[in-house]
Amino acid sequence: MTWTLQQVPTQSGRVAIVTGANIGLGFEVALALAAKNCSVVMACRNRDKAEAAKARILARHPGATLECMALDLASLRSVHAFAAAFGKRFERLDLLINNAGIMMPPYALSEDGFESQLAANYLGHFALTGLLLPRIVQTPHSRIVSLSSLAHHWGDIQFDDPQSARGYDKRRAYGQSKLACLMFAYELQRRLARAGHGTLSVAAHPGVSATNLFQHLPVMLHPFAPLVGLVFNTAAGGALPVLYAALGDDIEGGDYCGPQSFRQMRGAPVKVGSNRRSRDVAAAARLWNLSQDLTGVRFLEE
Ligand SMILES: NC(=O)c1ccc[n+]([C@@H]2O[C@H](COP(=O)([O-])OP(=O)(O)OC[C@H]3O[C@@H](n4cnc5c(N)ncnc54)[C@H](OP(=O)(O)O)[C@@H]3O)[C@@H](O)[C@H]2O)c1
Repeated sequence: MTWTLQQVPTQSGRVAIVTGANIGLGFEVALALAAKNCSVVMACRNRDKAEAAKARILARHPGATLECMALDLASLRSVHAFAAAFGKRFERLDLLINNAGIMMPPYALSEDGFESQLAANYLGHFALTGLLLPRIVQTPHSRIVSLSSLAHHWGDIQFDDPQSARGYDKRRAYGQSKLACLMFAYELQRRLARAGHGTLSVAAHPGVSATNLFQHLPVMLHPFAPLVGLVFNTAAGGALPVLYAALGDDIEGGDYCGPQSFRQMRGAPVKVGSNRRSRDVAAAARLWNLSQDLTGVRFLEE
């Protein structure tokens, strides 16, 4: 049976963080959660964009509980500040949706010296998750959802050059960051289970969805952007696997959700598989150690 939002009960009393909630998939996830009476923290790097998105949700759901909080995932300083501010404001965290991301920008380093895609897509979320973990594990039935991509097939973890210092292939670097998100989701589940926590770590991908993510593709391709939503998924459709991972009642730790049809590029949300590299347990443990060393955030150490 196809999973739909209609079968999700009220989320009243629950608290969610959605990173990158001002547009695209993150906006759609925040909108859907707010419609179910979940209290949603919109964790965004641009306050004006966040407030405008909050207003758009409130226009549709006037009773929604929404709060914009500043978070730049490409800055460890910002990640620490966000986690500290959240910890002061909220006693619980039911859903952490690690959604924000960028794809194939020109080469740049974050203020911490990380390649920008690895920084925003993966390392920022790794640190965020670690800093918020005490709140998450004390909240019954909590879940952490990591956004991966079909692009996890494009990359490998370059342990000897994770920041692409020896040469930048933007497609491979995006693939590396999305593979890292998926390996992190699986490894986090293993570590949560071994530590005896009930929190579930799951992953999701939206197939191909019409969002701003494609802004760095060549300009000659931009006129085709509106077609993406027609041929593949709208942003709302692409958000469904994320929502299924977060809310589905048959979801288990370590599940990966994506669209059902056309080689996982579009369609209804289902559980999907991922490649062998993403399931390499030794590489995932090595990635965990590397991520701890790079970010200085250490958690669920064994
Ligand atoms: N669309 C697809 O087909 C597709 C396919 C596979 C996976 N995904 C994944 O889905 C996720 C959402 O992407 P999307 O398609 O919704 O793209 P989008 O429309 O471009 O939205 C990306 C969101 O991430 C935010 N963001 C980027 N860098 C950030 C940073 N350093 N700190 C905080 N927020 C930051 C953006 O903020 P600003 O608005 O301020 O830039 C925006 O809110 C990403 O992880 C992406 O890899 C998307």
